Amino acid sequence: MTKKIAVLPGDGIGIEIVAQAVKVLECLNSDFGLNAEMEQGLVGGSAYDETGSPLPEATLKLAKEADAVLLGAVGGYKWESLDISVRPEKGLLGLRSELELFANLRPAILYPQLAHASTLKPEVVSGLDIMIVRELTGGIYFGQPRGVRELENGEKQGFNTLIYKESEIERIAHVAFETAMKRDKRLCSVDKANVLECTELWREVVERVSKDYPEVELSHMYVDNAAMQLVRAPKQFDVMVTTNMFGDILSDCAAMLTGSIGMLPSASMDKNQKGMYEPIHGSAPDIAGQDIANPLATILSVAMMLRYSLDAEELAVKVEKAVDDVLNQNLRTEDIYTQGDTKVGTSAMGDAVVAALKS
Ligand code: IPM
Ligand code: MG
Repeated sequence: MTKKIAVLPGDGIGIEIVAQAVKVLECLNSDFGLNAEMEQGLVGGSAYDETGSPLPEATLKLAKEADAVLLGAVGGYKWESLDISVRPEKGLLGLRSELELFANLRPAILYPQLAHASTLKPEVVSGLDIMIVRELTGGIYFGQPRGVRELENGEKQGFNTLIYKESEIERIAHVAFETAMKRDKRLCSVDKANVLECTELWREVVERVSKDYPEVELSHMYVDNAAMQLVRAPKQFDVMVTTNMFGDILSDCAAMLTGSIGMLPSASMDKNQKGMYEPIHGSAPDIAGQDIANPLATILSVAMMLRYSLDAEELAVKVEKAVDDVLNQNLRTEDIYTQGDTKVGTSAMGDAVVAALKS
């Protein structure tokens, strides 16, 4: 059966890294029996330039009709002064919310070949394998009321609302426990229950859901401590589950433990295994168009897509193996390069992965 993939490169390096992932998908189509149809759409700043909206109707329709979405990255200096309602990031947030992609899976895995690329000591990070499960369609990112208002004395006041319903906490907790069941069966729920009522409820609901998963060892941690523990002794964690904003922050922190944010994929899932797959890094406008960005996170996002949305575990493993192969060949983009490696550009890295797939 043909699967439909909506391909949304976005802005900045999104364009060049997604092109490499498309090469990989084309190779899987031609040589490995994947039957995927790809259609491109505009999102982010490039969409705004062309249509006046960071998430045009046509793109939303394409994404809604697809079995999976492959996204590059959005944003750039050029659009930073736009009104917040039409900024590139709104395109991404709109996709997450319109497609109800409430569960964001962000693995932080250290490739042994890159142990020296981490800023932490090798013994602290070697063997690192964490999965962060971030709630993605609620919390302070979407809570109402929000805005900037003027007080009676003329002073401005900005405000956002941290808000979660029990049902929203329950569904993300279930995803986290299910994820833990497939791994080391340890789940750490991160909150700020000592200060924020909303996350006090979070803790209570996660505790309740845990009754359905007696095999999973559940712990709770305040977010400030979790940030510290992530850099102090990251290997204590297996799966972490947390709110939208805490997950945004902790996942960048966890990513850096692995040496390069350019290596990490992510999946944002709805309740039916439909997902949007994207590297966890941003659009890096400072290096866009120079053929130096690392396409491996996007290629690894394709692997996640094959596994979770396209029911093609075998091909997912093949893609991951191909990435492992190119690292073993010492091929490195600039972000993961150290002396003695062979430095390659974005496109050459994509070609190398395709060659490894075919070999
Ligand atoms: C991420 C990004 C986004 C977020 C931005 C680009 C809106 O930082 O995916 O982590 O904050 O969720
Ligand atoms: Mg982020």
